[in-house]
Amino acid sequence: MERKWWKESVVYQIYPRSFKDSNGDGIGDLQGIISKLDYLKTLGVNVVWLCPVYKSPNDDNGYDISNYQDIMDEFGTIADWEMLLQGLHDRGMKLIMDLVVNHSSDEHAWFAESRKSKDNPYRDYYIWRPGSDGREPNNWGSFFSGSAWQYDEATDEYFLHLFSKKQPDLNWENEKVRREVYDMMTWWLDKGIDGFRMDVINLISKVPGLPSVPVEDGESRPYHFGGDYFVNGPRVHEYLQEMNREVLSKYDIMTVGEAVDVTPEDAALYVGEDRDELSMVFHFELMGVDSGPGGKWDCKPWVLKDIKDIITKWQTLLSGKGWNSLYLNNHDQPRMLSRFGNDTDYHKESGKMLATLLHTLQGTPYIYQGEEIGMTNVKFDSISHYKDIEIINMHKEYLEAGHKEEDIMNSIYIKGRDNGRTPMQWSSEPQAGFTTSTPWLAVNPNYTEINVENALADPDSIFHYYKRLIELRKEHDIIVYGDYKIVAEENERVYAYQRALGSERLLVILNFFGESASFELPAEVGISEPELLIGNYDVGQAEDVRSLELRPYEARVYKFSV
Ligand code: NOJ
Repeated sequence: MERKWWKESVVYQIYPRSFKDSNGDGIGDLQGIISKLDYLKTLGVNVVWLCPVYKSPNDDNGYDISNYQDIMDEFGTIADWEMLLQGLHDRGMKLIMDLVVNHSSDEHAWFAESRKSKDNPYRDYYIWRPGSDGREPNNWGSFFSGSAWQYDEATDEYFLHLFSKKQPDLNWENEKVRREVYDMMTWWLDKGIDGFRMDVINLISKVPGLPSVPVEDGESRPYHFGGDYFVNGPRVHEYLQEMNREVLSKYDIMTVGEAVDVTPEDAALYVGEDRDELSMVFHFELMGVDSGPGGKWDCKPWVLKDIKDIITKWQTLLSGKGWNSLYLNNHDQPRMLSRFGNDTDYHKESGKMLATLLHTLQGTPYIYQGEEIGMTNVKFDSISHYKDIEIINMHKEYLEAGHKEEDIMNSIYIKGRDNGRTPMQWSSEPQAGFTTSTPWLAVNPNYTEINVENALADPDSIFHYYKRLIELRKEHDIIVYGDYKIVAEENERVYAYQRALGSERLLVILNFFGESASFELPAEVGISEPELLIGNYDVGQAEDVRSLELRPYEARVYKFSV
């Protein structure tokens, strides 16, 4: 397998709005991030992924960009951004930027032109269609509730927006749009950045004709998920190969594409080492493990078998073909510790167990800000405290459809994106040391306990465990490059797997529950003189690794040779 710096890296994701406020306006900013670079260096991460910092009216917190080559006023200036890049590079870290080009903001100059008239030179930068029988051009629903089309009076036509109505989809069929995007990417790369995280990149090609989703007789919902017509669309690989040829191939960079609804087979087409497209993709299969047939808000408990099956499938099917990305939460997901661990009785133990999983699979781990100190979900008592457009739109739609307020709030507590967006908890000072004024989104009240200051002071903290895991990846090639194989698959409480590189072996054993669990190593797995690389409990030297009684959320990683 080809060695690459980005395979050997650990990425840290920053959501700038919530990371650190330097000027007391309640909103995180670039100088705030700069003031915490030594913290990131201490943690040991190699790469920072910065969520969008471009000019934006913030309908979707920066994922609606009105100028791709300038910085949002609340965050600072280009000079601040340059200082950030320099600060990272000086400390031996790299920077990848978010690239949001499935759509722009409706306040982008291109769209302001585009909506003026049907013959405007920018008209074809977006996807416009006349209405059909006085309604939207088709029955696609937006990811953020309601129709994916918005009527615009000026020209009596509708424009497509797969996300909010302030996020019109760009028309990738138009060569000029692609040229603009490539030039803009080149502009950032020439400033010295080290790659891109590409927002919903597998949605950029739509099926010509934009057909409606077929619906059964009697179906009363007006809008439907039109994924068949824009997920992995007909020209997506052509576009990405063109982007690679024109831009990416000219630099030593990494790329990670957010890929909605992809299977490992689809993913191999994006990340195949001979495909000249992307370094890796973020898939959503694991993030869907606790959703019922009704989708994201139809919450159900996860089952360990499903987690094992999904991870094993991705580890196995991409093996030798392409590279995996590894993540357990981000700015769009609930906090991993609340979702897959236990944020009350076994905060430390389960946080460390999940960290062990994240760092010992084959792929590049992505840590989301605050995960390294065990930040958790939040429960605000009223919808009025929530800021996320997805939450607000869903709440309204579900209320109108007759759902109970209590049920809706419950699903927000479990799945809402604001769980991951509450301000970073730096200390036990007011507002968690995030800001000196009122933060844009309230801090999680548990900041008095869970905060960076405490984590740094406690040698046994989740933070120090992450630091050690990151060091171990640097010390042992097998953790990065070793092949994966599941072990004792039928164990319902323990997830165990082996990694193999040459004659070296790694055995990872994870108890996923808050009760003790038995683990028997199957006879066919040979093991001799195992060395415990890391674990989240003290372990007696004389223990027989073939037969273990694991404590709640216990995690162990052994290394040995065959
Ligand atoms: C995915 C981003 O991660 C999310 O935050 C955003 O709302 C959508 N794409 C639309 O850009």
